[in-house]
Amino acid sequence: MNLRRYKNDDLEAVAQLYTESIHTNAASHYDVAQRGAWAPRPPDLDIWRRRMATLQMLLAEEDGRLCGMLGYEDNGHIDLLFTAPGCARRGVASALYCAAESALAAQGLNELFTEASLVAHPFFLRQGFEVVEAQRINCRGVVLPRFAMRKRLAPCP
Ligand SMILES: CC(C)(COP(=O)(O)OP(=O)(O)OC[C@H]1O[C@@H](n2cnc3c(N)ncnc32)[C@H](O)[C@@H]1OP(=O)(O)O)[C@@H](O)C(=O)NCCC(=O)NCCS
Repeated sequence: MNLRRYKNDDLEAVAQLYTESIHTNAASHYDVAQRGAWAPRPPDLDIWRRRMATLQMLLAEEDGRLCGMLGYEDNGHIDLLFTAPGCARRGVASALYCAAESALAAQGLNELFTEASLVAHPFFLRQGFEVVEAQRINCRGVVLPRFAMRKRLAPCP
């Protein structure tokens, strides 16, 4: 697996990965209406272009195919963690997360935070995050449950 930074011509592939990941990997925890509100089809590329401008994006590729992505912000916010359908439980998200955590730790941050879906909740627990609160957000008129989570980074000895 190869990790690299996002380029502008990845826009459509990234929006597609997000959409397919939600409609497939998240089907175990979110119903059709919830998934449709979370990831409308087709994705609005103008919204995606604006979102990409606010995030540091890491992409994972396997044999030239996009298999995962993660976005983060310099304040420690971990966002947009998605693995492609068919690539789950093979360490893709772990590799992306470790790269982001290393980069943020190197910037001197001592706490990371995220809003984890019900599907991602066990993943973030495994990475050492704790739940701050259970949330129910309104997304395009549909309620989506999720967890606000955080992880304190150990200071360098
Ligand atoms: C959450 C998600 C990103 C995890 O990606 P992944 O590449 O499958 O994760 P990894 O293979 O690195 O998993 C590492 C560990 O996290 C935990 N984990 C990951 N997915 C899990 C799941 N669905 N159920 C329980 N534990 C899980 C396990 O401990 C796993 O280790 P194991 O496979 O050896 O048991 C992926 O399921 C996904 O894209 N979900 C749909 C979209 C989503 O909800 N994204 C998060 C938005 S906040």
